[in-house]
Amino acid sequence: MADNDDLKALIRTIPDFPKPGIQFRDITTLLLDAHGFAQTITRMAATTLGPIDLIAGIEARGFLFAAALARPLNAGVLLIRKDGKLPGATIAEDYALEYGIDRIAMHADALTPGKRVLLVDDLIATGGTARAALRLLRKAGAVVEQAQFLVDLPDLGGADALRSDGITVDSLIAYP
Ligand code: PRP
Ligand code: ADE
Repeated sequence: MADNDDLKALIRTIPDFPKPGIQFRDITTLLLDAHGFAQTITRMAATTLGPIDLIAGIEARGFLFAAALARPLNAGVLLIRKDGKLPGATIAEDYALEYGIDRIAMHADALTPGKRVLLVDDLIATGGTARAALRLLRKAGAVVEQAQFLVDLPDLGGADALRSDGITVDSLIAYP
């Protein structure tokens, strides 16, 4: 099937969540489908620019894709979490969301300068989250060449903004 339409068919849209006017692209239905989830990881892994040392996954849904990609890409997983969740010393960045404002953090000692890191999340909308994650990783000395997402919402401009930060951005599915 062209353009990953088979995977797109496994994602449902919930109108007006979490706020009126937001079309929420719900990937939990894709996760429930063993073949669909496996195909998602296979196709994401096939577009990875390698080699990499670590996959940085963004809380919470990004963790699922980062962890699953770690096996085929033979990489470790670096957790980028909502601020206040990590037990060790952290560095943090603020960001604006499509529906709010938040702050993400990573352990300050999670990587040594020069480590090659792939940034992964389930979805990019405004790009606020991913761009904050990129700033965080660069602050820690990571070399980030690429970010991968299952879903892109191109009308919100996040992927282009992330490209303007100097990295390759790939996604399997776009809405609308
Ligand atoms: C969602 C999604 C991305 C982010 C994308 O996460 O998983 O991380 O929003 O939006 P942006 O490109 O406009 O920044 P959310 O903050 O809802 O957290 P969750 O994964 O814990 O549900
Ligand atoms: N994160 C930010 N915007 C989103 C949307 N429209 N659907 C699912 N997750 C999101």
